[in-house]
Amino acid sequence: MIFTVAIDGPAAAGKGTISREVAARFGFAHLDTGLIYRATGRRVLAGEAPLEAARALEPGDLAAGGLRTPEVAQAASRVAAIPEVREALVAFQRRFARREGGAVLDGRDIGTVICPEAEVKLFVTASDAVRAHRRWLEEQAAGLGTSEADVLAELQARDARDAARAAAPMRAADDALQLDTSRMSIEEAVAAAVAAISDRM
Ligand code: C5P
Repeated sequence: MIFTVAIDGPAAAGKGTISREVAARFGFAHLDTGLIYRATGRRVLAGEAPLEAARALEPGDLAAGGLRTPEVAQAASRVAAIPEVREALVAFQRRFARREGGAVLDGRDIGTVICPEAEVKLFVTASDAVRAHRRWLEEQAAGLGTSEADVLAELQARDARDAARAAAPMRAADDALQLDTSRMSIEEAVAAAVAAISDRM
């Protein structure tokens, strides 16, 4: 069975949690495409040129530690605005999306560019304050000492760059179901996603 679930939206809206839960529930493979850009950004911070960094990515890069820091997130967002970098990463993501057995991909351009033919498209959002608070809690748990105001500024800077870029900007596909998780528990958000998928299976 070929079945793709595309989950897009701004940083810290809940895409990752929803994607993991949905993939486990339906037995689909999951690809967090942000990790690909983070791994590229990390190589660039270490001195590589962006396009060479994207082309040199190996599976081990995505499992490496240190990809979840605010510095790497900003580097990811900068390399993600370079059209040639995005092009170098398309084929891998498309193959993953249409692999046998079903796939969930989360990112910014899955429903619009990587897999416009996805069977289910969700655009997950939450208010800036809610997203900043959630990300701040995660960073506290990970031992990072960032203030909530700094987390908010980091998310807003990244969202603005991701939405304004010319190459595959972050936006909801016309046929995406919008899911605002500001006032939802994780369970409620996952249940809404599961219902949308079950409807189309
Ligand atoms: O989702 P995450 O916060 O890990 O993504 C890091 C950055 O990677 C985003 O801010 C965005 O610039 C970029 N990205 C992208 N397209 C995707 C996934 C992530 O441009 N499909």
